[in-house]
Amino acid sequence: MSTDFLPLQGTDYVEFYVGNAKQAAHYYRSAFGFQALAYSGPETGNKDTVSYVIRQNKLTFVLTTALRPEHPIAEHTRIHGDGVRVLALRVDDAAAAWVETTHRGGKSHMEPTVLKDAAGEVVLSGIHTYGDTIHVFVERKNYSGVFMPGFREWKPAYNPPSTGLLYVDHCVGNVGWNQMDPWVGFYENVMGFRNILSFDDNDISTEYSALMSKVMSNGNGYVKFPINEPAEGKKKSQVEEYLEFYKGEGVQHVALATADIIGTVTQLRDRGVEFLQVPASYYADLIERVGKIDEDLRPLQELGILVDRDDEGYLLQIFSKPVEDRPTLFFEIIERKGAKSFGKGNFKALFEAIEREQGARGNL
Ligand code: FE2
Repeated sequence: MSTDFLPLQGTDYVEFYVGNAKQAAHYYRSAFGFQALAYSGPETGNKDTVSYVIRQNKLTFVLTTALRPEHPIAEHTRIHGDGVRVLALRVDDAAAAWVETTHRGGKSHMEPTVLKDAAGEVVLSGIHTYGDTIHVFVERKNYSGVFMPGFREWKPAYNPPSTGLLYVDHCVGNVGWNQMDPWVGFYENVMGFRNILSFDDNDISTEYSALMSKVMSNGNGYVKFPINEPAEGKKKSQVEEYLEFYKGEGVQHVALATADIIGTVTQLRDRGVEFLQVPASYYADLIERVGKIDEDLRPLQELGILVDRDDEGYLLQIFSKPVEDRPTLFFEIIERKGAKSFGKGNFKALFEAIEREQGARGNL
């Protein structure tokens, strides 16, 4: 058995570049149930940007904005709108992760850099992936502080409760025409991932919205990155709409795991998160399609939660509408009951729901 040259302990954090981090942090706390954790800004000696760190169980989001128009982060949000900049991966040795990946052809974003304060040290390094997206390798085994040097604890008076979100299940990238296989090659060759599932346009095709997808997984399966590219359809595919409005390749959705999808989605809906809805007919023959499940059908239908089964079990999932005005990033909420797949049986109903939204935007 070959050794894993890039052992990953999971997702460390997801960083979003946004136009207004103060308001974005409020949205993810009030609507999604994240808890305040840490802050960086002028008060901590950081003159050019502000970052809020929020956490829910093993999920950590960082929301960052530029304070001045000439800052590169301001340019990033001008071009892309709000979106994911960093998919940070926890490692035992950030210097080794950088050496291994850059020697295999990864383009360096940040050489290994040691950050120190009274609580110890964090080592960061980074490489580029699709579009303007970055992987940062985070080594924090010698750090006991709240997040990392440069941040202070953030303890606001307002602390809405959790919604039961647990960790990042997977994170999907949209890439351009004929770019899926080159990026599959990048994850195989540079990061040592393997392709565990593939979907072609026969699997994922509705009247209009065709796409192809390959799911890349690291060795221990903690990190899964499906890669989508558009396919020819009658009209504009959802991936093309994304590429047009994000102005390039980027993260399409982040899937957040829960152990109680009915409870979590009820909370999210009641706090204002909007979800895609499938027609009532989806539920008429659901049990014939997926077999017996533990959950009552009625709350699943009321909330619009989808179900799919594979050889190992079943999964429940639902997709939010885009969380920005541009039709770009959205979230998936997923509860796995044994299934290790991604809901292929729901693609048709789901993509038809996306097309109804695209049509309403005039982008079909
Ligand atoms: Fe997904």
